[in-house]
Parts: sequence; C-alpha cells; structure tokens
Amino acid sequence: MNAETDGTWRRLREHSRRLGPVHLRQLLRDERRTPELVASLDDLTLDFSREKLDAAALEDLVQLARNADVEGMRERMVAAEPINSSERRAVLHMALRGGAPAPAGADVVVERDRFLDFAEQVRAGPFRDVLSLGIGGSHLGPAMAARALTPDHDGPRLHHVSNIDGADLADTVRGLDPARTLVIVCSKSFGTLETMANARLARAWLGDRAPAHMVGVSANPAACREFGIPQDRIFGFWDWVGGRFSVWSAVGLSLAIGIGARRFRSLLSGAADMDRHFRSAPLRHNLPVLHALVGIWRRNLMGWPSVALVPYDQRLDRFVAFIQQLEMESNGKRVTRDGEPAGGSTSPVIWGEPGSNAQHSFFQFLHQGTDTVPVDFLIAARPRDADRGHHALLQANCLAQGQALALGRTADEVAAALRAGGEDEGAVARLVPHLLLPGDRPSTTVTYRSLDPYSLGRLVALYEHRVFVQGVIWGVNSHDQWGVEHGKVLADGLIPALRDGAAVEADPSTRALVARLRDLGS
Ligand code: F6P
Repeated sequence: MNAETDGTWRRLREHSRRLGPVHLRQLLRDERRTPELVASLDDLTLDFSREKLDAAALEDLVQLARNADVEGMRERMVAAEPINSSERRAVLHMALRGGAPAPAGADVVVERDRFLDFAEQVRAGPFRDVLSLGIGGSHLGPAMAARALTPDHDGPRLHHVSNIDGADLADTVRGLDPARTLVIVCSKSFGTLETMANARLARAWLGDRAPAHMVGVSANPAACREFGIPQDRIFGFWDWVGGRFSVWSAVGLSLAIGIGARRFRSLLSGAADMDRHFRSAPLRHNLPVLHALVGIWRRNLMGWPSVALVPYDQRLDRFVAFIQQLEMESNGKRVTRDGEPAGGSTSPVIWGEPGSNAQHSFFQFLHQGTDTVPVDFLIAARPRDADRGHHALLQANCLAQGQALALGRTADEVAAALRAGGEDEGAVARLVPHLLLPGDRPSTTVTYRSLDPYSLGRLVALYEHRVFVQGVIWGVNSHDQWGVEHGKVLADGLIPALRDGAAVEADPSTRALVARLRDLGS
C-alpha cells in the first residue's frame, strides 16, 4: 500500500474530504445513489447505500483493487503458489469445496468421502453425544456453523470444547455418558496446549473405552497415532489449509455428524458458488471485492478503527467470534509480505453481538457516543422457525437501527416531539441535547433468503475472500499468525512455577503475579 504517492489513493483522499462533511441524510436524498451502491449474487445482497460513499468514490476503490493486482494474487492463490510466504505454503481452502483445483497428490475428494461416510456411520450408530475438542480455527468454524444450522440438526447432540480452563470440559461432560459419547480431537498441529490437555482429560474420562471412542482430525497423523488413535479413526487435511479456513475439511466432522453428509455438501457448494463468483465476476460487481473495498474506505480513508458486526439472527451468535479470528488473525499485521512497515492501518477491531439484544447493550454508544463505529448488519428474508409476523419484528428492528444511525434525529425534530408531548420551552431546551441523535453513522446491510447450509457456506466464503482482498491491498500476509506464538512459549515457561511451585525467572511484575496466585491458591 503506497498511500502517500499513489494517484488512486490521492483521488480517494479527495473523495473522503468531499464526502466526509456531507451528512448521510443528504446523501440519501439522492434516489439514484442507492441502486449504484447495491450488489447481489442471486438472493445474497450487499447494500452499501448507508455508507458515506458514492459511485465515483467506489470506482476509485475498485481501481485500488486493480492497482494492487488482486486478480493476479487470486490467480497465484488458485495456482497453488506459496503465497503464505513466511510459512512457505500454498493457500488452497477453496480446493476443499471444489472452488479451485486441488494440488497434485492431495486426495481431497477421497478424504472428504471418507469423513462424510464416517459421519453417516456415527449418525446411524449408538452415540448420543459427540464432543469435539479443538481451539481457534479447529473450533470456531464447526462450533459457529453447528449453532447457525440448529434447524438442520438431526444427528447426535454436539458439544464443542476449546478452553484450557478446565471448567469448559467439566461443565460439558457433566451429564454425558462416556459409553455413548464420541470424542473428536481436532488440531491441525496436534500439539496445541489447550487441545492436548483437554484430549488427555477426555481420554481419562472415557476410561477403557478410549481409544475406541476417539477420533483424530489433523494434518499431523503421526502425532494422532502416538496419542493412541487408531489409523482408521484419523482424518487428515493438508498444510495448505489454514486453521481459520479449515471448516470445509474434516475439521467440520462434528458438524457433518450433526447435520448429515448431504447438508454438509450443500454448505460446501454454497462456498464453491461464492468462489466461482469471486474468481469470475468483474471487480465492480464482485461481492467479496466490494465488501473488502468498503472496509478499506472505512479504515484507511475515514479512519475508523473498529467495526461492529451485528447479525439479526440469534443462531449467528458465534459468527462474530468466528469472523474476529478470520479477520483479526489474518490481517492484524504491521509489516508487508516483504517485512517492510505496512504504511497504514490494517485490520480494524471486530466486535459485536446479535441484534436485537445488542440494541439494549452497546447501541447507545453507537448512536450517541463520541466515536463513529460502522456497523455490518445481517438479516434473512425468511425465518427458519418463527412465523413471518414474528420475523417481521426482527427485520423492522434491524432496518430501523441502520436508519437511525444514518439519519439521526435533529434538534428540530426532537424539540417538535417534546412540544407535542406538552413540555414547556425550558424543558425543551434542557432535553434537546440529550435526545438528539447526530446520525451520519454508516452501516452495510447484508440480506439473504434464509440461513441454511448453502447460504451459510456462501456467507463464510464471502468473508474469507474479503479478508484475502484486504490483505492484498494492505500488502500483508493474511495466512500466517506469528504474533500468537511468543505467548505460547512464555506460558510454557511459567507452567512449572504455577503448577509445581518451581522458581520463576521473569520480570518483577510477572514474578509478583505468580507469587500472588500461588499464595492465594495454596
Ligand atoms: O493460536 C493460534 C492458532 O495457531 C490458530 O491459528 C489455530 O487455528 C489454532 O491455534 C489451533 O491450532 P491447531 O489446529 O494446530 O491446534
């Protein structure tokens, strides 16, 4: 990203200086503007009309993607070039769902059929519960999707445990019968502290039934065998599948057991359709590209450091955590692929909570706080369970929040309402500052017919490609995560002190914290 010298960036900064002072209320007076800021793939629509944007600014954003050679990088990814340069790996999660060719020698279809056949066997068998252990990318994808697809669930009950906090496993196995529980240990490396500690606990809980009740999902089958999992219960994937992009592989086994192979394949085909769109649609009509560019506009041109993700769908309550990892682990980087300073801001903070709950917690801050936080709303046209009337209440709330954020409520409107309610002029003057909403706060609204396996697959792939495009424009490697490694090493160093009372060699603050926990815990 060369934001200083590049002509496109210069033009974009002019657009931001032009549009920055124009209130969204005014932008929304232009009837022609809305259709220019809406893009669709079948029933999936991204509506950017409540962003502080217009078609001219969007054209230059598209030019930015062209300049960064997003299309070239995309082809390098598809051609299995090692675009994850710091780990010298290709990035081919698209191959897991047929959205790109698999690299030579990788039996993607064979391995997929194997784990989906196994899923069907489990569904037909005696297990009442499936306990999947894993963390980060080996947890969030299946846990998020299992929750999102609750109505599609007709298999054994699913439980996903990730935290090294023993409470997570203890609370989950309470009430489960080890004789009727299958444990899946999901870890790309099969060496992650949290997962392995929980796997050992689960193995002890299963007693004599382990390892017959255990399954391993990993890119490191040797470590699975060493742990005691028989070869025919090990399902593999490849080093070219990043953890946070792995739900499409056997990492999704728990989900496949819950919803069945047919629906799991439908999830894959939704993602593959998004892949085809991403690979073939012109940039100006390419949903992931446009979604990414609006993010760049918010972050680098308007300077907003965070984004609130607010699905109006209770079953997407784990979607926020999933997208947090996807975006922040991928693009939370400060140097380019060449190790030079990134030269501008990269990933925003992603946070959020489903609506309408969030309206009764942090929306006050969004409407009247001192910071502007753009919002991404997601809402289905059709409910899966509720009747249409009930769903309309949800939809009305979703649309109204974006409306209130964009338009606000002026002093005149507030004063008129107060007078109409019988307030005297003194009260009106006193209350107006508290009641007015500044508005001019942007949002994007994502709509789709209904949340089913196909549409979830498409939605997740949309965000995956959005992350890719932003990474290319920022010039960072979106596929490594070195920042999380050092803390793991330090934790290993502190375990003897906290578990066995060994001497601790550390800075004074850490030593004091260790001493305090030891004293209090003894
Ligand atoms: O700590 C981060 C991370 O490396 C993630 O990228 C990954 O998804 C997670 O840990 C789990 O790793 P594994 O699947 O190897 O257990």
